[in-house]
Amino acid sequence: METMQGLERTHHCGNLRKSDSGTEVVLTGWVSRRRDHGGLIFVDMRDRSGLVQIVFDAAAMSDFHKAETLRNEFVIAIKGKVRERSKDTVNPDLETGEIEVVVNELRILNKAKTPPFYIQDGIDSDENIRLKYRYLDLRRPEMQKNIMLRHRVAKIMRDYLDANDFLEIETPMLCRSTPEGARDFLVPSRLNPGMFYALPQSPQIFKQLLMVSGFEKYFQIVRCFRDEDLRADRQPEFTQLDIETSFLSQDQILTLMEGLVRDIFDKALGIKLETPFQRMSWDEAMDRFGSDKPDLRFGMELKDISEFVKGSDFKVFNSVLEKNGQVKVINVEGYANIPRRELDGLVEWVKTYGAKGLAWIQYAEDGVKSPFKKFYSDETFEAIKNHVGAKIGDLLLVVGDKPSVVAQALGELRLEMARRRGLIDPDALRFLWIVDFPMFEYVEDEKRWKAMHHPFTSPRESDIEFLKSDPGRVKANAYDIVLNGVEIGGGSLRIYQSDLQEKVFEAIGLTQDEARAKFGFLMDAFEYGTPPHGGIAFGLDRLIMLMAKRKSIRDVIAFPKTQSAVDPMSHAPSEVDDKQLKELSIRTAIKK
Ligand code: AMO
Ligand code: AMP
Repeated sequence: METMQGLERTHHCGNLRKSDSGTEVVLTGWVSRRRDHGGLIFVDMRDRSGLVQIVFDAAAMSDFHKAETLRNEFVIAIKGKVRERSKDTVNPDLETGEIEVVVNELRILNKAKTPPFYIQDGIDSDENIRLKYRYLDLRRPEMQKNIMLRHRVAKIMRDYLDANDFLEIETPMLCRSTPEGARDFLVPSRLNPGMFYALPQSPQIFKQLLMVSGFEKYFQIVRCFRDEDLRADRQPEFTQLDIETSFLSQDQILTLMEGLVRDIFDKALGIKLETPFQRMSWDEAMDRFGSDKPDLRFGMELKDISEFVKGSDFKVFNSVLEKNGQVKVINVEGYANIPRRELDGLVEWVKTYGAKGLAWIQYAEDGVKSPFKKFYSDETFEAIKNHVGAKIGDLLLVVGDKPSVVAQALGELRLEMARRRGLIDPDALRFLWIVDFPMFEYVEDEKRWKAMHHPFTSPRESDIEFLKSDPGRVKANAYDIVLNGVEIGGGSLRIYQSDLQEKVFEAIGLTQDEARAKFGFLMDAFEYGTPPHGGIAFGLDRLIMLMAKRKSIRDVIAFPKTQSAVDPMSHAPSEVDDKQLKELSIRTAIKK
């Protein structure tokens, strides 16, 4: 193998342009693809800046035979001259497509085994293979772009926050568990047998304590850990841009954050966003879209038709409405002729979202078709059509149930039908703040109220009196930021008075003693002059995923875990030695 002795890289492959023609260059990188035309060999050479075509000409160089031994992913250094390609050989798909480099010296710095998949964009290899060989997967240009974008965005965040007087402060990874609502990852303490640290689900309590300390504006780009069931936009460890401020109103915080998001899209993607972003109450979002993170890139809003269908002989709707339920529809425009098989499929599909059934109204050319047609007059179907703003040719999908089930089922159906009908503009960016969240949600299984955001979120001033008598009606000073149907961040104004904090703990069924045991240190701190404060955390992975137009956050994390939370490359998690366990005073219940 050869070395780079005496050669110094002068340029990056992907940066060469027509204006470099005639320049002597030294390049280093990988063989991406090789085409052998007898006395001429073309190689696409790759480094992290991109690809350039290099040419080996038997007639013009002495070590041509070496070029014949090149294989994909060999590491090479070359010296050569940039030349313009003839018109008919220009490659418009390549940024360097107008030129090529004629090689006069080649050094093979390292060989490579044949990779398990092609190192190129748009591969559809099994994701497990990609993750097993992640270091090769990351060599692909699109993955390199994602990781570079991530770096750029983090840099812009730091610059913006620094310019706005924020301080980046680190908080512990070995903590007491924080009450973010997911399961904790636990770490046994060797020095304190039988005791465990929890990895932070977020630095929530620490950032509030930093406000007590008087830092006023804090941020941290920080890893968070949650032992949840994983999905495309959820990882067991993920990164937040975590922020906390003192003495600011909710409006001031949202405005500051809009400035941040505007800067990110402008400086990283050259996209100018209009601010302020739309704001919508949680109630309105649930009513119109059946979701607290509505995708506003298309319409198809939920409409209530309870008024029109009540008091008939149709048992299904009657029993729903008698129990304070509702009957709502979405209008799938122009799809009255939906195939029967697809309709039957949808009926099964919505059941996975808790609906007991799905009905429909087809406003077909030759009349109305509906499973409940015989229970209603033509006038009723006409009135529904007008109410919903439907036309001949449209299809209404109908769900009746209690409001939460209707919202979930129709909300998901709305997204699914938009995908199937191609209604989503992949280039649109629809930002939205959801505000006025309920303070609590009722957990049916446990028969108790639980904080919807977290228990440090403050209730709306005017609702404090209902904390005890009617927790369901209390709204919180909480906000989420949503982009294209993905929750990319969330935060709140916090409680900063210990007596109010105690009332909220009480409302979620924490006794004084339990609250003391868990958060005593925070409640103590609150008694030493706590400023009004509030903040937010952005999901960095999700934001980058949307900016890079990917479907999974795994594509913007260098070394992610699979859906079952394993790393197929390093084989984490793994068993450990008995000796290690013994030191930790731990015995596992799993038989080896
Ligand atoms: P929250 O729990 O809403 O708030 O989290 C903030 C944001 O983090 C992202 N996120 C995730 N991303 C990937 N994988 C996960 N498992 C995951 N879980 C959450 C989301 C979410 O909007 N301490 C509060 C913030 C605050 O009140 O200031 C918090 O953690 O984009
Ligand atoms: P059934 O009386 O259960 O056979 O239902 C009659 C029609 O009403 C069928 O087309 C069902 O799919 C539909 N249906 C049943 N339950 C619901 C529901 N909760 N919401 C909307 N339609 C329903």
